[in-house]
Amino acid sequence: NTVLVYNYTNYHTMDEISDWIQQMEKDHPDVVSRMVYGTTYEKRNITLLKIGLNNTMPKKAIWMDCGIHAREWISPAFCQHFVKEILGSYKTDGKMRKMFKNLDFYITPVLNMDGYVYSWKDNSTRLWRKSRSPGPGNCTCFGTDLNRNFYANWGMVGISRNCCSDIYSGERALSEPEAKAVTDFLSANRNNILCFLTIHSHGQLILVPYGYPDIIPPNYDELMQVGLAAAKAIKDVHGMDYTVETPPNVLYANSGSSRDFARLIGIPFSFTFELRDKGQHGFTLPEAQIQPTCEEAYQGALSIITYVHDKTFASAAYTETATLWITLWAILAL
Ligand SMILES: *[C@@H]1O[C@H](CO)[C@@H](O)[C@H](O)[C@H]1NC(C)=O
Ligand SMILES: *[C@@H]1O[C@H](CO)[C@@H](O)[C@H](O)[C@H]1NC(C)=O
Ligand SMILES: *[C@@H]1O[C@H](CO)[C@@H](O)[C@H](O)[C@H]1NC(C)=O
Ligand SMILES: *[C@@H]1O[C@H](CO)[C@@H](O)[C@H](O)[C@H]1NC(C)=O
Ligand SMILES: *[C@@H]1O[C@H](CO)[C@@H](O)[C@H](O)[C@H]1NC(C)=O
Ligand SMILES: [Zn+2]
Repeated sequence: NTVLVYNYTNYHTMDEISDWIQQMEKDHPDVVSRMVYGTTYEKRNITLLKIGLNNTMPKKAIWMDCGIHAREWISPAFCQHFVKEILGSYKTDGKMRKMFKNLDFYITPVLNMDGYVYSWKDNSTRLWRKSRSPGPGNCTCFGTDLNRNFYANWGMVGISRNCCSDIYSGERALSEPEAKAVTDFLSANRNNILCFLTIHSHGQLILVPYGYPDIIPPNYDELMQVGLAAAKAIKDVHGMDYTVETPPNVLYANSGSSRDFARLIGIPFSFTFELRDKGQHGFTLPEAQIQPTCEEAYQGALSIITYVHDKTFASAAYTETATLWITLWAILAL
């Protein structure tokens, strides 16, 4: 048995991350299992880690994906940090243990695997964003913006129909196998998934639906309140400011995003995180900032997940407490 000492404050290649995914399952067989839920254009296995404790009671789920945009290297680093933290705490932290019993975490460390591999090729490809499928017809460019390819008012605004553009929306909704894989998984599990978190950089934002059209979902007030609480949790760690808004209010309107799709199919809590920074280093955030960025974003994500968990399982907790009091009362009465 080799002990893998994984450096969480480095950026890692796709091969290293794939080995890490296997290692997580090996090291924590009681709570971690790998699941392949799709194949990329270049035939890589799109893999998520399912993390949670077995429970005879029905469970709910939390979704998190990283690396939908290839160049946002801090995002896969965050998913790995997040997995490390929850696996490190559930045995000793009663709250996390309770969440492991009530929830399954479905975490995809790198969704756009082909693009991520390409972004590691050399300096000239470092800022690659899209997938790696060839353009249609006689177009000589590659790649579709996966976060414009979802079936959520696809192809309307904040997109391009030019296949050479960084925000090319694809020939049609779900033309890309990576977007299709996520769509199929979410659709099959939508009654159980409480919360959808998709991790990007950069800009220090927490984005709530919708990107397009400029309308608000019925639980907008609650989404904003939960988002603002997460931003406060983030600020408390290293003082960084995160803005909570809908995309049209703070960035630009965009259609075809996974966040919008998740909310449209009824997943109540759906957020995009845009991690550090605000443009100084942009997509090439120095490795020295991996640790603090992940520490603060972890508290932000945890704040949201805790809220969602407590809201859903409050009545169960109440029942547990009530049972305890009745038992105590019965004992005292004797
Ligand atoms: C991890 O990587 C960082 C950044 O490259 C480096 O400074 C640090 O020394 C490494 N830690 C270990 C334990 O190798
Ligand atoms: C949890 O349940 C799965 C599926 O039923 C089973 O394969 C696994 O062994 C169980 N793990 C534990 C620790 O009981
Ligand atoms: C991809 O996953 C399938 C199972 O879903 C497995 O049989 C296959 O070996 C995997 N391929 C690679 C390259 O890991
Ligand atoms: C790649 O980029 C790094 C950092 O910008 C630079 O130091 C290095 O010289 C570049 N390498 C090549 C081959 O251009
Ligand atoms: C593709 O071909 C058509 C006609 O064959 C031409 O009108 C168009 O400009 C070409 N597009 C590109 C990007 O070369
Ligand atoms: Zn992005």
